[in-house]
Amino acid sequence: MAASINTHFFLMITLPAILIILVFSGSATAQLSSNFYATSCPRLPTIVLNGMRQAVSSDRRMGASILRLFFHDCFVNGCDASILLDDTATFTGEQNALPNRNSVRGYEVIDTIKANVEAACNATVSCADILALAARDGVSLVGGPTWTVPLGRRDARTASQAQANQLPSPFSDLATLISNFNDKGFTPAEMTALSGGHTIGFAQCSSFRNRIYNATNIDPAFATTRRATCPASGGDSNLAPFDTTQNTFDNNYYRALVARRGLLRSDQELFNNGSQDALVRTYSTNPARFNTDFAAAMVKMSNLSPLTGTNGEIRRNCGVVN
Ligand code: HEM
Ligand SMILES: *[C@@H]1O[C@H](CO)[C@@H](O)[C@H](O)[C@H]1NC(C)=O
Ligand SMILES: *[C@@H]1O[C@H](CO)[C@@H](O)[C@H](O)[C@H]1NC(C)=O
Ligand SMILES: *[C@@H]1O[C@H](CO)[C@@H](O)[C@H](O)[C@H]1NC(C)=O
Repeated sequence: MAASINTHFFLMITLPAILIILVFSGSATAQLSSNFYATSCPRLPTIVLNGMRQAVSSDRRMGASILRLFFHDCFVNGCDASILLDDTATFTGEQNALPNRNSVRGYEVIDTIKANVEAACNATVSCADILALAARDGVSLVGGPTWTVPLGRRDARTASQAQANQLPSPFSDLATLISNFNDKGFTPAEMTALSGGHTIGFAQCSSFRNRIYNATNIDPAFATTRRATCPASGGDSNLAPFDTTQNTFDNNYYRALVARRGLLRSDQELFNNGSQDALVRTYSTNPARFNTDFAAAMVKMSNLSPLTGTNGEIRRNCGVVN
């Protein structure tokens, strides 16, 4: 009897409540759409592509830098351009968080593109959407895959330095990396594919010094090469490429891992006799599979809790709230 009353109570009161909550949270989680600006700013994709072409042709590393800028935006409160907000006397944003300070590059590239977009379609396109398109174009311009970018994000009016300080650390072990990405809804396999972003770009000595002097799971010849430009003390900002083809988006990052030539500890953790070894081996011999998985995971990352509807704003200048 008591059980039957409880069951009825559940069906009549609790169940509808759950359904209502599901429906409402469903509409709050944003439906982005690839044709969001089809009528309001039809030239948007061309303007962004031209801006990235110019940026990459004058500094080929910019493809990598904009990809990382997007990752660091999306992993902190979603893809809402919060990372683009400049610090002021009364506002502390994300740019000086430890993982970003003197490290993240490309803010001015997005500012230039935004100015061109404003000239064509005033007060219409968010900085968050521009960054999502620019990251896609940066990857494909240096030889990587392309994908369709869902659009309709709006820009944050706040930022979180504290959360930016929680971005994944290059000193992490595999369990920590899996946990960091799981927190954002990614599987270990998606984490391994996204880490392949390190097929392009560079890291500073301070990010990998400990590994090249102290680690045992490293090719000794590789350690010697890297030590030549990353002394045991000093030279903190000296750069080293993640793989031997740092200007080309290919699968050499995974080949490096299999050869125990991962640059960061967090890179080599993906191939260190653990759960991701098999997938790393697959990507190291199957670049098409890597490209497909990377593109799918990038679309998923670009959907991380966007602001939509009347939330947030369309920033006029990506560095400041309106
Ligand atoms: C798995 C966890 C990750 C960690 C611990 C990590 C850490 C780092 C570190 C330490 C650097 C070098 C920064 C410096 O020394 O100044 C770096 C660079 C970079 N990261 Fe990651 N990263 C991770 C995941 C990702 C993801 C998911 C992407 C994109 C899909 C990405 C894209 C890049 C790119 C392209 C660069 C080079 C940037 C440039 O040359 O300007 N990283 N990352
Ligand atoms: C763009 O739009 C804003 C707000 O609607 C307006 O104040 C500004 O004058 C416009 N700028 C140009 C160049 O049209
Ligand atoms: C190597 O590890 C030791 C012990 O943890 C540490 O004191 C030292 O600073 C490390 N060396 C480098 C170059 O990072
Ligand atoms: C994996 O285990 C083998 C055998 O114990 C060892 O030689 C190797 O250094 C380990 N790490 C990697 C990255 O293969």
